[in-house]
Amino acid sequence: MALDPYFNRQEGGEYAYTIEATKLKFGIGAIAEIGHDAKALGMTRVALYTDARVSKLEHVDKAATAIRDAGLTVEIYDAVEVEPTDRSFLAGAEFAHAGGFDGFVSVGGGSVMDTAKASNLYATYPADLLTYVNKPVGKAQPVPGPLKPHIACPTTFGTASECTGMAIFDILDMKMKTGIAHRELRPSLGILDPSALATLPALVVAANAFDVFSHAIESLTAKPFTERAAPDTPALRPIYQGANPYSDIACTEAIRLIGSNIERAMKIPEDISAREPLMFAGMLAGIGFGNSGCHVPHAMSYAVAGLVRDYNPKGWPSDHALVPHGISVIVNAPAVFRLIGPAAAARHLLAAKAMGADIRNIPEARAGEVLADQVIRLMRATGIPNGLSGLGYKEADIDALTNRTLPQTRLLDIAPRRISKNDISDLFRNSMYYW
Ligand SMILES: [Fe+2]
Repeated sequence: MALDPYFNRQEGGEYAYTIEATKLKFGIGAIAEIGHDAKALGMTRVALYTDARVSKLEHVDKAATAIRDAGLTVEIYDAVEVEPTDRSFLAGAEFAHAGGFDGFVSVGGGSVMDTAKASNLYATYPADLLTYVNKPVGKAQPVPGPLKPHIACPTTFGTASECTGMAIFDILDMKMKTGIAHRELRPSLGILDPSALATLPALVVAANAFDVFSHAIESLTAKPFTERAAPDTPALRPIYQGANPYSDIACTEAIRLIGSNIERAMKIPEDISAREPLMFAGMLAGIGFGNSGCHVPHAMSYAVAGLVRDYNPKGWPSDHALVPHGISVIVNAPAVFRLIGPAAAARHLLAAKAMGADIRNIPEARAGEVLADQVIRLMRATGIPNGLSGLGYKEADIDALTNRTLPQTRLLDIAPRRISKNDISDLFRNSMYYW
């Protein structure tokens, strides 16, 4: 018997799953150990990637000082673009190539860590940009071998880029978000120091917490790994394998931690003890979705972020309209849970229970609805906009949003049921208002 009936074996179906994660160090003050860690990884000449905003924070200074104190040299590259593009990836790679570095450190959010991964890749194995980029946009050629060591130090939480072999960016000409996904891209070490979260504005904390939350719920409700056909060779087993017993454990705990800490972490920013569990939850969900995969709310989020006209949230740079990633994800989530609930009812109920819902006597047909209600309650409590309408979208935008989402097949295919074009349109329609 399988560990859970969700993973019952199927004829010709996948029979094994792998659990891969970056080696991680977690703790308040851990950033001070980076010099020791860089040296242990054989680094002597380090490229430290960050962005213009983060470079002014104490965290970068602490990292650079610790690296120098260990007797290594370090050069700082602070030109990483938030929401990186093909252009900014190439600029980062150029810096890496010219500097002859033997190690990489990234200090910042997902954009910084992803740019360091791509720079390391293209400096180590030079190629046309599209060579390693996911299909259908790129050629998706496997990374030829190991990269130089990379220590990723998040100054925020949620993207979990420190745990994954993924680097996301926009292709400017195509106005499209895509990425590079390969296990060799995983950093050699992630240093998660919750003291970096002390200066995050409250709405940034909420948006990131909802990103974590959605990673965890999407992984838990993903198609079971046993439903994929077994690969012809183990080398062809994908990174994103579908739900599996290991990621279930990490993701259920991540949901519980976010549900019970998000409001306190927003209200009392100086209380790092309330933010520490959010960073830990982000790490757990990162290991979870890094092996199982996200699905529909994330597939829809790229269109929601890409087609924004005039939303300027408090706490983010305000020179242009933008929808922060966590918000672009969570505004779709309740509608998605209502649709796919019946395809993975027990898992939707498990997630609702982890958030504190009383699930006794709830029929399976209502599982998605119950989880959606929990998410909406938390969205309202934390100041998240009321669905797509709260971001300025109207009915007339649904076709464009749908067409932008259709190419996200890598994500859509991990949903626990087939998602048609009509489903996507209906999901955007049902995501307009929640209250
Ligand atoms: Fe995400």
